[in-house]
Amino acid sequence: MRRPGYVLSAVALILAGSAGTPAAVSSSFAPDGWDQELRLSEAHDNNPDPKIVEVDLTARVADVTVAPEKAVRAWTYDGRLPGPLIRAHVGDRVIVHLTNNLPRPTTIHWHGVRVPIEMDGVPDVSQPEVGTGGTFTYDFVARDAGLYWYHPHVLSAAQVGFGLYGALLVEDPDDGVGVADELTLVLSDIGFDDHGVLESADSGGPAGMVFGREGTYVLANGKVHPTLRARSGAPQRWRIVNAAKSRFFLLSLEGQDFYVIGSDGGLQERPQTTDSLLVTPGERADVIVTPKGPPGGTLTLRADLYNRGYGSVEFRIPEDVLTIAFSNEPTLAKRTLPTLHRDIVAPPLAGATAVNVELTLPPAGPDGKSEFHVNGVPFWKAKPFTARIGETQIWTVKNSTKWDHPMHLHGFSFLPLDENLKPIRPMAWKDTLNVPIDGTIRFVVVFDERPGMWMFHCHILDHADGGLMGHLHLLPGSPE
Ligand code: C2O
Ligand code: CU
Repeated sequence: MRRPGYVLSAVALILAGSAGTPAAVSSSFAPDGWDQELRLSEAHDNNPDPKIVEVDLTARVADVTVAPEKAVRAWTYDGRLPGPLIRAHVGDRVIVHLTNNLPRPTTIHWHGVRVPIEMDGVPDVSQPEVGTGGTFTYDFVARDAGLYWYHPHVLSAAQVGFGLYGALLVEDPDDGVGVADELTLVLSDIGFDDHGVLESADSGGPAGMVFGREGTYVLANGKVHPTLRARSGAPQRWRIVNAAKSRFFLLSLEGQDFYVIGSDGGLQERPQTTDSLLVTPGERADVIVTPKGPPGGTLTLRADLYNRGYGSVEFRIPEDVLTIAFSNEPTLAKRTLPTLHRDIVAPPLAGATAVNVELTLPPAGPDGKSEFHVNGVPFWKAKPFTARIGETQIWTVKNSTKWDHPMHLHGFSFLPLDENLKPIRPMAWKDTLNVPIDGTIRFVVVFDERPGMWMFHCHILDHADGGLMGHLHLLPGSPE
């Protein structure tokens, strides 16, 4: 059944408030030093041109401290965990000079960004691997506002798990949100022993691959259980990315609300209030929180149990992610939250090409090895999917496994249509969308003028390495 609001026509994008009326810039209410424990280091912009952000990044092994007495010899960008925050304005050109001082080759993939294929960071498809001592320059325009992130695309499960990831924040000063106290929150995890030695990337063998390995320490901006200070009743804007290679974050704030205003590709159609926020690997969420509590008291941001497959809830307890410590100021009088609206209209579905994708996990072979299949074959046996420039495709992704799979498409944002035939609303641009156990999702995507070999895969990176990945060959020329 089609509901009236479900009529889909030409792609349009209008942000309420961006048509000349300057957004009200609200003042800061947060106590001094409120984000001191969580503030990310920022990459230094070496280019005087205000429209160009040009930074150097060095990938290298470094000792980082995630908690008192807990240091790990991690793989880092610039010795930081997470890597430095790269901050740009929408429309800026971003130039990143990567130097690889790791003992292994690497690359950088700009997750969610509409880059040309040469900048997508996939070895042998978009660029050669950057060997030890080598360099590569990434150069692209940040066309869309939103929170994006960067990570390697060589042995991704290992390299991301070892600490290689960072946030790319593309700001739109006219987005109309008007919350001054803003925090970029990179959620992840890491595993290491008492000597600070990283857990091996193949721990747990084939079962570890099938589950998707999670690190023992849950990190918020590289820290175990840090403290964020707040004034009770004062709004804060959190831009969240899940950079863990397998862990899901089902966030809750002791029953208080998240006012969700955006997702992977910037603001969503309209805000939505929830007390439970799921952010699967690779996904982003843009939320306003207005934590309330007695002056001097605390509130805990927790990651609750979420069933993404056997082993994710059995014998496990929720994790504390961070503590909010309230200042002694009285609770701020109630503030009205911005009523944001973004027109997001899907392209015409009539005439779109149907693409069917089924995810399966056949029984393990006699050697005990398992592999995930996409349409009956693992990545290494698959032929590329194809598309033509200008083509609209509707992907139906059916999950016939007993594990969730957050599916990511490189280079293109798509619009989710439905999950198990139930419309997904509010509409939001996504590049990563979870397909739950035994579930089916549909999304629509239009391929623009960037031909090349693009990847899609599960962002449980162990699953991707275990076969749950494919190529999409975007051919020049228009569809017949
Ligand atoms: Cu964020 Cu191919 O990955
Ligand atoms: Cu998966």
